[in-house]
Amino acid sequence: MKGIILAGGNGTRLRPVTHVTNKHLLPVYDRPMIYFPLETMIACGFKDILIVSGKEHAGHFLNLLGSGKSFGVRLSYEVQEEAGGIAQALALGESFADEGSVAVHLGDNIFEHTKQLVSGVARFQRDERGAMIFVKEVPDPERFGVAEVDGERVVRIVEKPKKPVSNLCVTGFYIYDANVFSIIQKLKPSGRGELEITDVNNSYIERGTMQFEKVDGEWTDAGTFDSLLRASNLIAKKVRKE
Ligand code: G1P
Repeated sequence: MKGIILAGGNGTRLRPVTHVTNKHLLPVYDRPMIYFPLETMIACGFKDILIVSGKEHAGHFLNLLGSGKSFGVRLSYEVQEEAGGIAQALALGESFADEGSVAVHLGDNIFEHTKQLVSGVARFQRDERGAMIFVKEVPDPERFGVAEVDGERVVRIVEKPKKPVSNLCVTGFYIYDANVFSIIQKLKPSGRGELEITDVNNSYIERGTMQFEKVDGEWTDAGTFDSLLRASNLIAKKVRKE
């Protein structure tokens, strides 16, 4: 299994800060945002990691992270010509995945602890079939993909529902078997004109091969001004404790 970090998109919710740079290069307390998904992927044991970013700023990621040598990993880069959604960015990782399964980390997601992600990856690696998502209880589920669960089973995921059926947000860490790329090929763009990762996840749910884990500890995205501030405060608190 290999790790893919998605760091594309236009970051429109952070304008004007993202006018001339990529969201994932912005600081979260003491580090560029991209460091956090990278550290998570390294904690999960991945040695081969792909970063997908937009063409305007792809060179900045290379300047910042280089070959990955200083992190003890090998980094590859892929360029998303135009922002077309998370699933479209993930599709660019097909040849990198080399017919194996992948762990995918949205570049603007910050996890306080990596323990469950690490154990989820290890559990998935036992048979490498289907998919796994990680959910977190949040006070504002309408901002995210929301999971409806029934005991141990995810019934469906609704992207940014007006009336959420639960407070379980689907976080931006996903594990997929090699079928993910043929699933993406069959997707149609959503109302916002994007290939949605939620449609990929629902496809695994329909096949009956989706597992889920709950995330302990704090989690936040960092794609809006309020959540970026929350992310910085979360990391500041963590760094001061260490
Ligand atoms: C994306 C996904 C959503 C998920 C969220 C996590 O939302 O579409 O399902 O809950 O990331 O951060 P976006 O950031 O594109 O609005």
